[in-house]
Formats: sequence, structure tokens, C-alpha cells
Amino acid sequence: MQTALVVGGTGRTGQRLVRQLLERGVSVRAIVRSRSKLPPEVARHAALTVIEANLLALSDAELEQHVRGCDAVLSCLGHVLSLRGIFGPPRDLVTRATQRLCRAIAATAPAAPVKFILMSSVSVHRPGRLDARRGGAERAVLWVLRGLVPPTRDNQRAADLLGEQLGAGSRFVEWAVVRPDSLLDGDVSPYTLHEGLINGLFSPGKTSMANVAHFMCELVSNPQTWADWKAKLPVIVNQPARP
Ligand SMILES: NC(=O)c1ccc[n+]([C@@H]2O[C@H](COP(=O)([O-])OP(=O)(O)OC[C@H]3O[C@@H](n4cnc5c(N)ncnc54)[C@H](OP(=O)(O)O)[C@@H]3O)[C@@H](O)[C@H]2O)c1
Repeated sequence: MQTALVVGGTGRTGQRLVRQLLERGVSVRAIVRSRSKLPPEVARHAALTVIEANLLALSDAELEQHVRGCDAVLSCLGHVLSLRGIFGPPRDLVTRATQRLCRAIAATAPAAPVKFILMSSVSVHRPGRLDARRGGAERAVLWVLRGLVPPTRDNQRAADLLGEQLGAGSRFVEWAVVRPDSLLDGDVSPYTLHEGLINGLFSPGKTSMANVAHFMCELVSNPQTWADWKAKLPVIVNQPARP
């Protein structure tokens, strides 16, 4: 049985991720601020261990204890969509959690590399200008957003951190950053994966949260999917329905 640690598991996508991991027979540990935000049938699941805590307030030793023995650590963290959530502390929630969790994994010196899978966004670009260059208006909007809206900057920094500090992966940690477009409700449906951006900022694509969760589960449990996408920032979009 595989074991995965999930952070952000009470969020819109995170709840779907926790449910889908459990449905696949993965044993899940979830660090959440409030257990009551999990759907009751998920919170009761025998293969789920809930750790009720403020993630960033956990000590290094506590984090190491929670990641020890995990095959994968998955983040669906996001800033709460309120003035306080967007502009208040912690402005570097995703970056700091990514940094501390990766450090905790390395400190446990696992026998095989642990997968760190980060849910991000198409507003994040691949390091090294690998994505197709955006038009001038899009670059200007993103520049303003990264300057003024902390979550946009935070998501980019977290992805940069993985690319710069871990590169192709280390002895203890391998990584992938999943980049959905505009998030939608709905069930798992056909979707496509792309190495780079395929939609413009002003003509966004659509990505069901269930599909994000499905792909993150595939990264955990399907070795070929992991081999295809590790150390990359795949863009995931729903396959358009046939006319
Ligand atoms: N909205 C979009 O269209 C869109 C599109 C593409 C990508 N994204 C990205 O996808 C990610 C997830 O999005 P989502 O809409 O599924 O997220 P969400 O529903 O807003 O959930 C955010 C999660 O992060 C947790 N969280 C927030 N602040 C925290 C803190 N200070 N300490 C610990 N946990 C904290 C929340 O916990 P609580 O439940 O306790 O608040 C929740 O579990 C985000 O990074 C977002 O930028 C969003």
C-alpha cells in the first residue's frame, strides 16, 4: 500500500484529491487546519489519518515525522480568496510549505526518492523561458499581478524553488508541478497534458478539479506517468467535447 501526505486537503481540489487517493487504496495523511472541513465520509475513512495543525507552525521534527514513510507528498495549498487571504500573511504560504516539506523529506533520508507534487497554475511559467513567449499585454498583466498580488508571486516562487534547488531531482526528492487552467466543478473526464502553455491569458482553457486530482493520483501510482512528467510543469486542460 502506498502512503501519501496531502496538504491543502480541505480545499476545493484538495478534497477531491484526498477522496480519489483513498478510492485507489492509497493510505493518506492529511495536515489540515480544521478536520470539520473534510466531507464526513472522507474524514471517517479507515485509511485516512488527519493531523489537525497549522502547517507552517509545525516544527521541523514534527514535519519530518509526518513525511517519514511517505511515497509522495502532494500540495493543493492556495491562498483563501478574501482580502485577508490574498494580501495578509502568510504571503509565501506555498513557497514556504514547499521548501519545508522538501527539506523534511530529505532529512528523513528515504531509501527511494519521495515524489513532491505541487498544484500550481498556468500563470506560472517554466524556468529558462521554456514556455512559448506570451504577448506583450499578457506579460504586462502578469508582471503587475506578480508585483501586486502575493499568491501569484508565491506560486511562481514555489515552482522556481523546485526547478532551481532540485533540478532534475535529488537522491531523496523528485518533483512535478501541475498547472491547471481555469478551474471547474464536474466529474473526471478526458483531459490532455502539455509540456508548455497552450492557451492565452485572455482566452483561458478549462480544467476540472476532478481531473487535476486524477492526474495527481496518476503521478503517485502510475510509474510511467511519473517517468513522463517528473521534473516538469505539465499543463492540464479538459479535452473539448466533440461537436
Ligand atoms: N481558482 C482557479 O481558477 C485556479 C486555477 C488554477 C490554479 N489554481 C491554484 O490551485 C491551487 C488550489 O486551488 P483551490 O481553488 O483548489 O484551493 P482552495 O479551495 O482555495 O483551497 C486552499 C487550501 O489551502 C489551505 N490553506 C490556505 N491558507 C492556509 C494556511 N495559511 N495554512 C495552511 N493551509 C492553508 C486551505 O485550508 P482551509 O480549508 O483551512 O482554509 C485549503 O485547504 C491554488 O494554489 C491556486 O492558486 C487556482
